[in-house]
Amino acid sequence: MASYSSEERAGVYRAIRERRDVRSGFSPDALPQELLLRLLASAHQAPSVGLMQPWRFVVIQSRAIREKVFDIFQDASSQEHKTYAGERAELYSRLTLQGILTAPLNLCVVCDDESSQGHSLGRHTMPETALYSAVCAIQNLWLAARAEGVGLGWVSILDTERVKSVLNVPPAMKFVGYFCMGFVESFAAEPELERVGWERRLRLEDVLRSETFDQPWGALQP
Ligand SMILES: Cc1cc2nc3c(=O)[nH]c(=O)nc-3n(C[C@H](O)[C@H](O)[C@H](O)COP(=O)(O)O)c2cc1C
Repeated sequence: MASYSSEERAGVYRAIRERRDVRSGFSPDALPQELLLRLLASAHQAPSVGLMQPWRFVVIQSRAIREKVFDIFQDASSQEHKTYAGERAELYSRLTLQGILTAPLNLCVVCDDESSQGHSLGRHTMPETALYSAVCAIQNLWLAARAEGVGLGWVSILDTERVKSVLNVPPAMKFVGYFCMGFVESFAAEPELERVGWERRLRLEDVLRSETFDQPWGALQP
C-alpha cells in the first residue's frame, strides 16, 4: 500500500484543516535558523512547471527594512479603506491585516519567471504556471509552518513595485507574496474574516460541478 498510516494521514489533514492566516499574537522570539531552513526546504520541494523551481525567497529580519515595508502597507491600506463605505469601512478599520513589525521575521517570495530552468516545458501554452508554481511553494511553507507552531500571514495590501525597490529585487522578477512569520501560542479555529463577519466560507457543494460547469454536483451528505 502506498498510503500513509492512519495516524500520519490524520496529521496531514490536521495541518490542512488547522492552517490559519495569522496577523497577530506573534512571539517576538526569532525562529531558530534550523527551523526556518526546514520550512524553506519544504517550500523548495513544491511542484513546479517543467521543474523550473522559479521561487526566490528573501528573508527579512531587519527592523529598518520592515519599517519601510510597513509604511508601504499603511499607504496602500489607507487607499483600500477609501474604497469601502458605511459599516464595511468601519469594519475594515478594525481588521488587523498584517504583522509586519510585530512578527520577528518577514519573507518576500518572488518568481524568476524568465528563468531557462525547466526549458520552458508547459510554459509555451501557460506562462502563468511559473507564478502558480511559486504559489505551490508558499502553500507548502504555510502547512509546514502550521505543523511547527509558526504563524504565517500573507500581506498583499502593498505597492509591490515599491517593495521590490526596497528589497533590491531585479525588475524582471515577478512579486508573488509578502509574509509575516513567527511563533504563536495558538491558532484560531476559524478564519478571522469569518469570525468578524467580513465574509463567510462557501460550502463544498457551492464550488463543485459534475461533468460540465453548468451541472451542479448536488447536495452533499452532512
Ligand atoms: C493570496 C492571498 C493574499 C492574502 N492577503 C491578505 C492580506 O493582505 N491581509 C490579510 O489580512 N490577509 C490576507 N490573506 C489571508 C486571507 O484573508 C485568509 O487566508 C482567508 O481569510 C482565510 O483564512 P485562513 O487562511 O485563516 O483560513 C491573503 C490570503 C491569500 C491566499
